[in-house]
Amino acid sequence: MVGAISCAGLLTVLQTEAAAKEIPVPLTKLDNATCLTCHDADKGDLKATGAKATSKPLHGINNDKFGKSVHGEMQCVACHKDIRDAVAPHKKGTGQKAECVSCHLALWETAKKENLTREKARLGVVVKNIETYKSSYHARPNKEDPSRVNAACDDCHNSHTFNVPPQGTSRRTDWHLTIPDVCGAQCHTDELDEYKTSVHGKKVLEEHNQKAAVCIDCHTTHGIANTSKDTFKISITENCGSCHTENLKSYRSTYHGQINKLGYGYTAKCYDCHGSHGILSPKDPESKVHPNNRLKTCQKCHTQATQGFVTFSPHANTHDFERYPQVWIVSRFMWALLAGVFAFFWLHTGLWWYREAQDRKARRNHPDRRHPDKPRSAK
Ligand code: HEC
Ligand code: HEC
Ligand code: HEC
Ligand code: HEC
Ligand code: HEC
Ligand code: HEC
Ligand code: HEC
Ligand code: HEC
Repeated sequence: MVGAISCAGLLTVLQTEAAAKEIPVPLTKLDNATCLTCHDADKGDLKATGAKATSKPLHGINNDKFGKSVHGEMQCVACHKDIRDAVAPHKKGTGQKAECVSCHLALWETAKKENLTREKARLGVVVKNIETYKSSYHARPNKEDPSRVNAACDDCHNSHTFNVPPQGTSRRTDWHLTIPDVCGAQCHTDELDEYKTSVHGKKVLEEHNQKAAVCIDCHTTHGIANTSKDTFKISITENCGSCHTENLKSYRSTYHGQINKLGYGYTAKCYDCHGSHGILSPKDPESKVHPNNRLKTCQKCHTQATQGFVTFSPHANTHDFERYPQVWIVSRFMWALLAGVFAFFWLHTGLWWYREAQDRKARRNHPDRRHPDKPRSAK
């Protein structure tokens, strides 16, 4: 069965006929064109009938986009094994409902058996993503409706138009800019709205700059964790730091950063000071770390803090005189002190050796020097 699927096209047609044989009447053709006579997007959404009449309308399928998707060569019924006729409403067969996971795990097993893992490397990527996904927050049952998961593959990837371009192509770069919508358009609307106002959101959505953070840069993609867990609180710091390397370095040298590095999430992390979805430039008067708001930000944890407290610079470093003159001066003084001590030490030692050498020269003809093993008493 699985082998037949991987050969797609021709074999799936045969499979369709086999499936059709199991249905006595009506023996309609179950090819894509037939399905699309009712399910084409151009004809609008379909209303479910019977028991499902009140459920949400069924979206039509855009045949152009379907044709360009990674599954464009496949038959509808290769995935929709429970559809065994072309009448409305369908008399559902016992076949499995369409879903990405089981089909792709089987495809990869076949590729491994046939030694085609190199040629079909991207099928391996699908399976890797499935494995990562399984342990994520999205794969858990939804609190309100435990019959479904928080987010399934087809909530983020349209099943019929799935076409994430391969890594390293320019199409992939364009696609990357749409990620905030993938996460935010339907599910996380509040986060998306706030993100749009942030320095990252503006860069990505308005300037089309893919260097700034999109949702997955902070949250990861398929392994998204619950944000209240310590594992997230520790790893998010590294995620910010993968782009802001200098700020991570200076953060790591502070008390907050060292405790965080030891694996504890209770001291200030990047987002405790900067916020998460609404991060602004520190120069923006609305920024949580702008001098006007900074004390309030620190007071979330340091409840006793007063204005003097915020003279502490969370990103002070020793090589930026303009911004951190005191730190620069202290650091240069320490260097000068260190260099001075060593210079004095070597100068002193050098002069000492020089004098020793002079001494030796002066006593060149001393008998003890010519016969060193002669006992001193013999003098
Ligand atoms: C005569 C029109 C018509 C044709 C042809 C048709 N369908 Fe449907 N289909 C419907 C209608 C109406 C519904 C909604 C009622 C229902 O659930 O049966 C539907 C529902 C579906 C659903 C959703 C089922 C669910 O429970 O969520 C799938 C999947 C589907 N069709 C696939 C197909 C496939 C694959 C073909 C081709 C083999 C096909 N349809 C051919 C009219 C049609
Ligand atoms: C690669 C597998 C695959 C192929 C090929 C495929 N589908 Fe689907 N289809 C899915 C998945 C996955 C879902 C989501 C299933 C669910 O929600 O239960 C789905 C959902 C649907 C639905 C329900 C849409 C809704 O709004 O709930 C219809 C109708 C449908 N498909 C029809 C078709 C038709 C017609 C074709 C052929 C042109 C087709 N599918 C080809 C995988 C596929
Ligand atoms: C019934 C089986 C089936 C289902 C269900 C299915 N796929 Fe596929 N998928 C295939 C086949 C067959 C191919 C083509 C394999 C090949 O190139 O050998 C494919 C190819 C792909 C590829 C492209 C791999 C490449 O070579 O570039 C991706 C990505 C993918 N599928 C993701 C998904 C996602 C996401 C879903 C769920 C929405 C899904 N598939 C559902 C059978 C399926
Ligand atoms: C919460 C949303 C979400 C869910 C759920 C999700 N994905 Fe993805 N997926 C994405 C995003 C976003 C990307 C782009 C990642 C990137 O650019 O690094 C992606 C990329 C991919 C890719 C392309 C990877 C590559 O490197 O080329 C595949 C294949 C894929 N997903 C398969 C799946 C499968 C299979 C499932 C279900 C087990 C799934 N996804 C569930 C959001 C999701
Ligand atoms: C710059 C990093 C960053 C980016 C970009 C980002 N997030 Fe977050 N997100 C966080 C942090 C940190 C938390 C946990 C702290 C908090 O709740 O504010 C979080 C929490 C969340 C939560 C948990 C609920 C909540 O609001 O506390 C959701 C849902 C979420 N983010 C969705 C998104 C979506 C959707 C996007 C893209 C539009 C996105 N995030 C972009 C850092 C980020
Ligand atoms: C204790 C609060 C605090 C923490 C924790 C913190 N920052 Fe900052 N951050 C600030 C303040 C305050 C500024 C304003 C510049 C200054 O006064 O040094 C700033 C400035 C910045 C800037 C603007 C560029 C610059 O250097 O001025 C970036 C980017 C930045 N931080 C990123 C990070 C990242 C990434 C982390 C985590 C690795 C982090 N911050 C942790 C308070 C914090
Ligand atoms: C994918 C890379 C990436 C990630 C991850 C990322 N950022 Fe940024 N961030 C950027 C880029 C690019 C800019 C815009 C740079 C600029 O304008 O100097 C920016 C801007 C900023 C600024 C404003 C700097 C300024 O001087 O105006 C702050 C503050 C900031 N980020 C903090 C964070 C924090 C905190 C996190 C984690 C919660 C984070 N960033 C995660 C890429 C990233
Ligand atoms: C998420 C909570 C949190 C936030 C926000 C926070 N801190 Fe802290 N900070 C801590 C914790 C916890 C410690 C270590 C416990 C202690 O000694 O009080 C600490 C320690 C410190 C220390 C070292 C104290 C010492 O005794 O050596 C300084 C200085 C400091 N924070 C400054 C700041 C400043 C300035 C801000 C605002 C820009 C800030 N912190 C924001 C939690 C936070």
